[in-house]
Amino acid sequence: MKFKAMTALSLTLAVAAAGSANADPVEDELIVNGETEIVTKTAAPAHMENIDEVMSGWLFRENDTRDMQRDDFDNPGMLAVEAAMETWDEVEGTAGKACSDCHGTLDDDQMVGIRAVYPKWNENAGEVWTLEMAINSCRTEQMGAEAWGYTGTEMTNMSALMSYASRGVPVNVAIDGPAQPTWEQGKELYYTRTGQLELSCANCHEDNYGNMIRADHLSQGQINAFPAYRLKNAKLNSVHDRFKGCVRDTRAETYSPGSPEFVALELYVASRGNGLSVEGPSVRN
Ligand code: HEC
Ligand code: HEC
Repeated sequence: MKFKAMTALSLTLAVAAAGSANADPVEDELIVNGETEIVTKTAAPAHMENIDEVMSGWLFRENDTRDMQRDDFDNPGMLAVEAAMETWDEVEGTAGKACSDCHGTLDDDQMVGIRAVYPKWNENAGEVWTLEMAINSCRTEQMGAEAWGYTGTEMTNMSALMSYASRGVPVNVAIDGPAQPTWEQGKELYYTRTGQLELSCANCHEDNYGNMIRADHLSQGQINAFPAYRLKNAKLNSVHDRFKGCVRDTRAETYSPGSPEFVALELYVASRGNGLSVEGPSVRN
């Protein structure tokens, strides 16, 4: 038997063997700080062919991990939000500006809802931009400051702040109009089997969510909750870092964070979560 066929088979067996116990996501509600209601389960967007209901990864985690997200004092990802709140007011670069000089104080609520619509077509650039690309454009073009590393600490902190500002707002990325070809490319990547294991994102996150793989409870691989603080590496992880890890798990060469392929994949995966709340910064294992 060929190696490829065997590994695909062993995934199926591993999933099947562990799948009987504790397979379903929990029935639970997420209300952060007793006030912000988070939609963690809703009808799938019309473009999805094989799934009726979309669910946040939160529903697939253990009780302790879920509890950490109910209260900001228990959520380690909030330290990143606090750090970015300071950065927001810091002048940097040759133009002598801070984010707040153009976007107002955070209490002005000017940033509410922005996270929910990214990735988004940028008319001037003529391409789909992730939130990170929009932020770096402000740094280089508006502030005359250096771009942040795509998955670096400052960028991930700022992205956590943008999620926090939109927490509870339903994800609503546009997939039609000029963004459509990028979305199609992302969809193609999502369903393409890669690596020695010949597995696509869909093989795990569409065909097998709810099942156990090794010790992990497979979710739908949604990104509404990013960035995510992972207990495993004790830091906040950006979306493209997570993609990289999952591609590596199939023993494939991975694209780099910020690459056109990952931007397209992000748009597609985000659109699979249209209707779920922005949830970041979240806590995961
Ligand atoms: C000199 C003014 C200026 C500064 C300073 C600035 N920005 Fe911007 N920012 C803009 C403009 C102008 C836009 C584009 C608005 C548009 O076309 O939608 C923008 C857009 C954005 C967007 C996308 C908004 C959307 O609706 O799509 C984000 C996110 C953002 N900025 C974050 C930041 C952050 C974070 C900082 C600080 C690191 C910052 N900006 C600093 C002027 C500025
Ligand atoms: C071999 C199975 C496997 C494949 C293939 C795979 N993943 Fe994952 N992925 C996992 C596991 C296991 C986790 C951690 C548990 C969970 O949330 O599903 C995970 C988690 C995630 C998460 C975090 C979800 C959350 O709420 O924290 C995202 C996003 C994700 N994967 C996206 C992808 C994408 C995009 C692809 C394709 C490039 C992919 N995965 C391919 C196994 C896989």
